[in-house]
Amino acid sequence: MLEVIILAAGHGSRMQSSTAKVLHLLAGQPLVSHVLGTAREVGAKRIHMVVGHDADAVQAVVTAPDVQCHLQQQQLGTGHAVQQAIHNCDSESTVLVLFGDVPLIHRDSLDEVIRAASSGMAMLSSHVPDPAGYGRVLRDAKGAFQGVVEERDATADQRRLSEINTGVLAAPAAAFCQYLERLTNDNAQGEYYLPEVLKLAREDGATVTVVQSDRALDCLGVNTPQQLEQLERLHQGALADQLMSQGVLIVDRLRVDIRGALHCGRDVCIDVNTVFEGTVTLAGGVSIGANCIISNSNIGEGAQVHPFTHIEGAEIKAGASIGPYARIRPGTVIDEVAKVGNFVEIKNTHLGRAAKASHLAYLGDADVGSKSNVGAGTITCNYDGANKYRTVLGESVFVGSNSTLVAPVTIDSGGFVAAGSTITDNVAPDQLAVARGRQRNVDGWRRPKKPEETD
Ligand code: UD1
Ligand code: MG
Repeated sequence: MLEVIILAAGHGSRMQSSTAKVLHLLAGQPLVSHVLGTAREVGAKRIHMVVGHDADAVQAVVTAPDVQCHLQQQQLGTGHAVQQAIHNCDSESTVLVLFGDVPLIHRDSLDEVIRAASSGMAMLSSHVPDPAGYGRVLRDAKGAFQGVVEERDATADQRRLSEINTGVLAAPAAAFCQYLERLTNDNAQGEYYLPEVLKLAREDGATVTVVQSDRALDCLGVNTPQQLEQLERLHQGALADQLMSQGVLIVDRLRVDIRGALHCGRDVCIDVNTVFEGTVTLAGGVSIGANCIISNSNIGEGAQVHPFTHIEGAEIKAGASIGPYARIRPGTVIDEVAKVGNFVEIKNTHLGRAAKASHLAYLGDADVGSKSNVGAGTITCNYDGANKYRTVLGESVFVGSNSTLVAPVTIDSGGFVAAGSTITDNVAPDQLAVARGRQRNVDGWRRPKKPEETD
């Protein structure tokens, strides 16, 4: 049985933040949630989370039936952290340790470490371009593993080594327990270092396998805001590459952010500075203009989202045209070939097929029938300060500019609202509703004059 221990108790003082390090976001998800997902991917039967700093907040994020949290009261080092959880593991299990601040560790690298742990202790190392800050792997003249030295305990020569300890370690639970008990804190930081167990095992003549990952970038840890930013950019670049390899046209791979799952059909085009959050689906032929933010929404075939548009929790159907500068809020459904133009805000509204709201409008809690037209400056008054009400427009309704539709109200199919009306009563099919003060033209009216102009 495989059990995974995830270390997430540290403060992360190098982040200089009041938020626990493992709760900082990468691609829109807490660092520790990425690691939790990977633990499940490798088939962990039980997941042990070591929490300490900001324990309640971390626990709230990781809570799940397959996760047990263990409190590390004082953060005395990574070895001490594993000691808090190891006694809850079955003595027959293989135990895999993952660090909550190494978010992109890949299952392909882990599978090999887990296999190696069937015959002793195993760790994952990697050659990285900039090893500063990491523990370095020490080898003898023949290349055999000697141990891991932390940056702060390392000599200048050792610091030049580029093979780092990724933090990933796997071992049979019983052997692991035995070496953890023998850890001391006789080092520069006065901490119980986890990698010391490997040295103890080697000195005992036990097998220690060092698996080298060729996915160096996935092994990077986050200790500083700079490392978080670097990892985010690397990850986003990789996500963009993956989409491009499926034929998605991305104008600039470094100016797209995917904070969740983005599914794309054929011939999708994504312009610069676009952010996708949660689960977003772009069907074939969709184009997303520059500077759009799209969250948890489906965009139908051939729909066009023009620049500076914000869409959240909406369903946009085929051939629709949205924006520029539109805001589509949760609960909105925009049917086929409908059009939403600039400075239009829509919330919890169904806009029917080929309906239009082309400029400057607010539609909240409304049903707009197909081919209806909502003029510029029109708003639905859906809220009386306590309750919300619906506005219902039938098919081919025309609402003149600057109208105020006071809900609950219905304008039946073919209804026509004169510009500038405040509609409080229902309008029957094909009726014209005029609800505004009559124009009065006054003859012989004299404009007020300034004092110096008086005759
Ligand atoms: C650690 C390794 C280093 C390795 C690097 C890989 C040790 C001593 N050092 O260094 O060899 O190259 O990771 O990224 O293991 N944590 C606890 N309790 C503690 C201390 C830490 O839960 O008492 C957790 C942290 O929350 C973090 C992880 O363990 O998720 C690693 O701790 P961190 O302080 O970041 O270690 P590094 O200095 O990065
Ligand atoms: Mg770290």
